[in-house]
Amino acid sequence: MIKRVLITGANAGLGKEAALQLAARPEVEVVYLGCRNKHKAAAAQQELEQITGRNIFEVLEIDVSDIASVERAVHDLPQSVDALIMNAGGTGGKRFSAINNSGVTEIFAVNLLGHSVLTERLLKSGKLTQVAVYAGSEAARGVPEMGMPRPNLSTSSVEEFMSICDGSAFAKNQDATAHYGPIKYMGALWMSAMARRHPHVRFVTMSPGATKGTEGFNTLPFIKQYAMKGMMQVMLWLGKVHRVETGAARYLTAIFDANLESGRFYASKKGLTGALSAQHHVFADLDNPQFQDNALLAIERFTVK
Ligand SMILES: NC(=O)c1ccc[n+]([C@@H]2O[C@H](COP(=O)([O-])OP(=O)(O)OC[C@H]3O[C@@H](n4cnc5c(N)ncnc54)[C@H](OP(=O)(O)O)[C@@H]3O)[C@@H](O)[C@H]2O)c1
Repeated sequence: MIKRVLITGANAGLGKEAALQLAARPEVEVVYLGCRNKHKAAAAQQELEQITGRNIFEVLEIDVSDIASVERAVHDLPQSVDALIMNAGGTGGKRFSAINNSGVTEIFAVNLLGHSVLTERLLKSGKLTQVAVYAGSEAARGVPEMGMPRPNLSTSSVEEFMSICDGSAFAKNQDATAHYGPIKYMGALWMSAMARRHPHVRFVTMSPGATKGTEGFNTLPFIKQYAMKGMMQVMLWLGKVHRVETGAARYLTAIFDANLESGRFYASKKGLTGALSAQHHVFADLDNPQFQDNALLAIERFTVK
């Protein structure tokens, strides 16, 4: 039974909505809101308590782009969680390609490096017992509708994956969306490798799908932001994107639907919304154990001292 859940990036968007939906399940006793900003976290906690009438929300301070903060959070977590939703992420802010003190880009740190450390530390301390869900994206297998090509790696070696971590694969490309798809692809591969390494936990990568009304585009340069938001609005009218309730519900599907296989990446069967399917049928590289292990090893080059 899932009684305690930790969600990263829980003060806004899909993370906050997932917290709300979890509270509708009587068996859920505690939802840890993993947030980097105390004030935003407290406001979200209060709002969630008011809407749900349940005092089950606890704030856990965590900045997933900072390994020291992740380690503190694991230490501060007072008890184990049955499920982890690795939701924080997005396009990495205005300095997305800056290299942080772990040697990776900000966009990589927020989407993947911190979550990999979080998962490893939780497992090592016995604080994650049943399910790990990683926020994937259809960008990991390409989204032609939004001009995002499928990640195109030449060797899928550890070194090539490392060049995604430190941004050197993208040379001077100043478009965060060029980094985003390959990073989410690596995230899905890393989850598959983790599923083989830790068979007692289910590892499910789940894309929330194209979700209108979250804050994800707000840190893009103004023109790109305007273009992406405009495109999302048109796509909502055309029924090609969905609302935050639908996107967050996919995380709960990943946790509670035991038919979803560990180590798989689920996303929209076609386009960016609608029925889910396992994405290795669409993009066979996702099913390659060597690529999966290489992605994990590349991450470990930046995390294991
Ligand atoms: N929306 C979509 O269409 C879509 C589609 C596919 C995948 N996704 C994925 O879904 C996830 C959530 O997206 P969203 O659209 O809900 O984003 P959002 O509205 O921008 O919310 C992101 C949340 O993550 C938090 N966050 C950002 N950096 C953080 C850090 N370093 N440490 C801790 N928390 C941090 C933010 O906190 P602050 O308020 O402090 O910034 C916020 O609570 C992301 O991983 C995204 O890549 C989204």
